[in-house]
Amino acid sequence: MPVAVVVGTQWGDEGKGKIVDYYASRADMVIRYCGGANAGHTIVHGEKKFKFHHLPSGCLYRRTTNILGNGMVVDPKKLLEEIDALHSAGIRPKIIISPRAHVVLPYHFVLDGAEEERKGKMAAGTTKRGIGPAYADKAARFGIRFSEFIQPHIFREKLRMLHQIKLRVIEGVYGMHFTGTEEEIYREYSNYAQRLSPFVSDTTELVHKAIANKRKVLLEGAQGTMLDIDHGLYPYGTSSNTTAGGACTGSGIGPTAIDEVIGVVKVYTSRVGTGPIPTELSDTTGNFIRDKGGEYGTTTGRPRRIGWLDLPTLRYAAKVNGLTGLAFTRVDTLSGLDKLKVCTHYRCKDKKVVSTPVSYVELEACTPVYKEFPGWRDLGHVGWLEAAKKGYKALPPQARAYLEFISREVGVPIYLISVGPGKEDTIVLKDIFKRK
Ligand code: GDP
Ligand code: IMO
Ligand code: MG
Repeated sequence: MPVAVVVGTQWGDEGKGKIVDYYASRADMVIRYCGGANAGHTIVHGEKKFKFHHLPSGCLYRRTTNILGNGMVVDPKKLLEEIDALHSAGIRPKIIISPRAHVVLPYHFVLDGAEEERKGKMAAGTTKRGIGPAYADKAARFGIRFSEFIQPHIFREKLRMLHQIKLRVIEGVYGMHFTGTEEEIYREYSNYAQRLSPFVSDTTELVHKAIANKRKVLLEGAQGTMLDIDHGLYPYGTSSNTTAGGACTGSGIGPTAIDEVIGVVKVYTSRVGTGPIPTELSDTTGNFIRDKGGEYGTTTGRPRRIGWLDLPTLRYAAKVNGLTGLAFTRVDTLSGLDKLKVCTHYRCKDKKVVSTPVSYVELEACTPVYKEFPGWRDLGHVGWLEAAKKGYKALPPQARAYLEFISREVGVPIYLISVGPGKEDTIVLKDIFKRK
């Protein structure tokens, strides 16, 4: 015990990788349950920085079984690159891929670009990793799952049919040229399939066995609540259920198996991609935070848009995920400013709005209302590390007041506070893996 979901409460890049890595050192199993190569989870171990796109953030620990769940869409080429990079660094994690996970193929990338271009203002600014088209194929039952991918004759048969269709769509609908012949794709991808075949095994059974044996299980979310296909700011999000419900469908467990849902909260807002962000800072404060925090996309390198913390988003995230605890990140990055602002609610026409509205149209019509907070000083790398060692009371009082205010407003207790990218830069208020 327990089974815990770690989920992004905002627009992604909250620091899920760091938080999962922190817990994973004592976990038996980490399962990624949604998304694919669109995710970029950064883990810092000493001087070494790891960027995982598909791989669960438990991969740096020998004892941890790392599962790519059925809810994922996997780019086999990129996944092999990630595995090879770890092997070259002398790290050989236990990795298992669900046979129910879907495969991202070359025509998905081409379609991702073509669709975005045609969407104009409706484009989400995707990562161009083929995510939308791959999930669209899954829903339309045009997808290829790993169970089929690793059987050459089935892969060939499905690819023959799909290649013809996709070629016509790409050329006929979008007027683009698609270069990969069926034979070329088959040759390249059947090679990937062969290499990945030893990793494929029924993960649903494994997860259930782990839970039955009271193992410590982490379900690692990708993206964030506002990017969820149902609960996010449609159409400016991704194509999967990134919220805690997705942890069930994306791994094959029921909601009753879950004990904790930990929402990762960056203490300000960041976002890569398009769509409205009510608290966006297009000024020197935004630039200060972006530069200080190195806020550039882990996957695409794009500069992240920065804004003040937005409580309506967090209240909404608490509801749709059923959060039991909060993990705050980037307390060190937000330091060094005289005054901070938190959006407590929006004003929309004459109405007070306290939780994210349904559509981007409503959100665009909302004006954020702020409460000001005194900032806290930057303790410097060593100072933050010291504070992490000493514990919660060693944090600047202004930082504690800020975090406690958010926790109170959201109605969810603080479990963890991160004051730097490393595992050691962490203050734990509630240890989810403590024996009862
Ligand atoms: P994820 O997608 O949610 O896993 O987040 P990313 O890895 O894309 O982006 C989070 C970035 O913040 C990474 O570079 C982390 O190393 C870094 N990070 C996480 N927590 C902290 C923190 O408390 N302080 C600082 N300075 N960096 C952090
Ligand atoms: P992690 O797991 C931040 C955004 C893209 C785009 C939209 C759709 O690192 O938090 P997609 O390629 O999924 O079709 O893009 O979602 N997006 C992310 N933003 N972090 C992510 O993942 C993201 N994954 C997708 O920028 O707006
Ligand atoms: Mg990221």
